[in-house]
Amino acid sequence: MNLILLGPPGAGKGTQAQRLERNRGLIQLSTGDMLRQAVAAGTPIGLQAGVIMEAGGLVPDDVVVGIIGERISHQDCLGGFILDGFPRTVAQAEALDNLLAARGLKLDHVIEMRVVDDILIERVTGRFTCGTCGAGYNKTSQPPKVAGICDRCGGTEFVRRADDNEVSMRKRLAAFHAQTAPLLPYYKAKGVLSTIDGMAAIEQVAQAIDKVLEGAGK
Ligand code: AP5
Repeated sequence: MNLILLGPPGAGKGTQAQRLERNRGLIQLSTGDMLRQAVAAGTPIGLQAGVIMEAGGLVPDDVVVGIIGERISHQDCLGGFILDGFPRTVAQAEALDNLLAARGLKLDHVIEMRVVDDILIERVTGRFTCGTCGAGYNKTSQPPKVAGICDRCGGTEFVRRADDNEVSMRKRLAAFHAQTAPLLPYYKAKGVLSTIDGMAAIEQVAQAIDKVLEGAGK
């Protein structure tokens, strides 16, 4: 099964993609994570993307299409994947159609996770991850069980993303509304779009996604 989690920054795409990866063995393909790895490694793509990402803009279509096209060709994707943060423009969606067709693959579901902007800002400015194992947390909705200690690995160093501040976040939201929201009618016309309430608690959002994947949510 191949699906897209579509939603604004902070909608919970990564949180739910990680759960689907654990529970269903699907591969999470996050262009944001791939780009952050390129930034950390100082590759030419990373050098180009880092400045744009920190300012809250979108990295050029050809760069992200190239990254996804390469990753989707790996053998592990044959068992199914979750696109998290891609596509983000109609040009990327059209390129994805071509990539899938060339590999004889199809898109089973596009799940829109709907959340209002004010809540997104609160979520993103409260997000942090364990600097050792990468486990994700949130100041309000998902704090570690013991303050200052990672539940998963016991690490005590936590990191925040460079673009998780209110100024960048407002630009990311503007980019979503102008460039990514047009994907909703694009996928609706293809008959693969379902919309869920991304403002519910994490477990309820997970259940709504499961319902869609089991064919009851459209
Ligand atoms: P990317 O990494 O994709 O970031 P994003 O889309 O801005 O999404 P986020 O990772 O911020 O949020 P999320 O929806 O995954 O939410 P999460 O689960 O973490 O992209 C970063 C940048 O890279 C872009 O701005 C762009 O520059 C570039 N880029 C990436 N892909 C690109 C592309 N295709 N084209 C061009 N440029 C691209 O949750 C957020 C927080 O909320 C967490 O703390 C979580 O614990 C909490 N939370 C989650 N669900 C809930 C819930 N139901 N209730 C309460 N809290 C919740």
